[in-house]
Amino acid sequence: MKILVVGSGGREHALAWKLKKSPRAPKIFCAPGNAGLAKIATCVSIPAEDIAGLLNFARSSRIDLTVVGPEAPLTQGIVDAFMAAGLDIFGPLASGAAIEGSKVLAKEIMAKYNIPTASYAVFNEPVKAQKYILSSSAPWVVKADGLAAGKGVIVCHTEEQALQAVQTILVDKAFGEAGEQIVIEEYLTGEEASILAFTDGEEVIPMLAAQDHKPAYDNDTGPNTGGMGAYAPAPVCTPEIFQEVKEKILLPTVQALAGEGRPYRGVLYAGLMITARGPMVLEYNVRFGDPEAQPLLMLLKTDLLDIIEAVLTKRLAQINIRWFDGAAITVVLASGGYPGAYQKGKIITGLEQAPEGIEVFHAGTAFKNSHLVTAGGRVLGVTAAAENIALAISKVYAGIKPIHFEGMHYRRDIGRRAILPKT
Ligand code: AMP
Ligand code: GLY
Repeated sequence: MKILVVGSGGREHALAWKLKKSPRAPKIFCAPGNAGLAKIATCVSIPAEDIAGLLNFARSSRIDLTVVGPEAPLTQGIVDAFMAAGLDIFGPLASGAAIEGSKVLAKEIMAKYNIPTASYAVFNEPVKAQKYILSSSAPWVVKADGLAAGKGVIVCHTEEQALQAVQTILVDKAFGEAGEQIVIEEYLTGEEASILAFTDGEEVIPMLAAQDHKPAYDNDTGPNTGGMGAYAPAPVCTPEIFQEVKEKILLPTVQALAGEGRPYRGVLYAGLMITARGPMVLEYNVRFGDPEAQPLLMLLKTDLLDIIEAVLTKRLAQINIRWFDGAAITVVLASGGYPGAYQKGKIITGLEQAPEGIEVFHAGTAFKNSHLVTAGGRVLGVTAAAENIALAISKVYAGIKPIHFEGMHYRRDIGRRAILPKT
């Protein structure tokens, strides 16, 4: 069996790593991949957004199944194109993927189907947005409608910041077309968590609750990133909250999408704020999270290939998804300067010494003159699993010790929230 994994990050490395463990011993291809993926898969240099190129490759190489990592090809219709060509592919059609591609659409669906989320207003005219801000009170969250690589969300604690956010998105068009509309949202307080679920369009099976760490520096300070680390399970999602998320958010979302003529299958990711009023949706993603995929796939006991096939054949209800006990954690090692400008090509050392039980998933890495070098902002995702989160934390940080590249930075507090007493 031949599987093509589309993408080049830590998430895709973890997907390929887990798929390769299938008893069916599939041969894995990856487009475009990275230096870590090249060790376990055949990497082909087709960009993740070159849908025609990927389709050609899948056809000519007789790929049996394609698994898509990132959102961009999904929102651009990679699943539609592969299905039209009669090829098996895991992920939602563009019509469903639009709930990540358009925050306005996501909010409208949540409002229509009573899915708990922050109250909001939509604007495309700067003057109206400014008036709204001046007539309401801080804080606000201003969001560009479209995909903006995680940078289109601006939390504003003052009127000045909110007016500036409107200026940046609607007037200066800092995010281009993604900023033709904005959502101005009520600011929610609580602890964040992500619950991802497998769905075949009817059945919804949530994975373990995970927690991402988006700010660049310790104690949630500094600019937002794609995610500096994650762990699972997240104790903030008690069994009661978990059940509530399934019944009031995940299932209704899949049903709402079907009701809107957007049948959904694949992974549905709910980014949540666990508020005093209960869990509320901050955002939807239409794919595995990165880095959440790394600890989640490390803990997944069931063969991922079996789950994917059950989704594609609408037999998800018949499958029992099992998880290893304990906890897993990923700490991202980033390039100096990330999430701002950073240099590439720094030599990475110390990976050969990674202790037993640690997986180092590659994100921005490449080979240059037979050296492993940095090639992106997020470089490596050091991942460990253990009987509990405290042990997993010690294990992962011990695993990072030997690893080095010039300018490397990482958070020292990933997972700490899971072990600290509540404040
Ligand atoms: P998003 O990409 O929509 O998940 O937003 C990125 C980050 O902005 C989230 O992880 C939250 O930390 C923050 N955020 C988004 N929406 C809200 C909200 N309504 N209230 C408070 N914080 C928010
Ligand atoms: N870690 C957040 C995301 O994948 O969008």
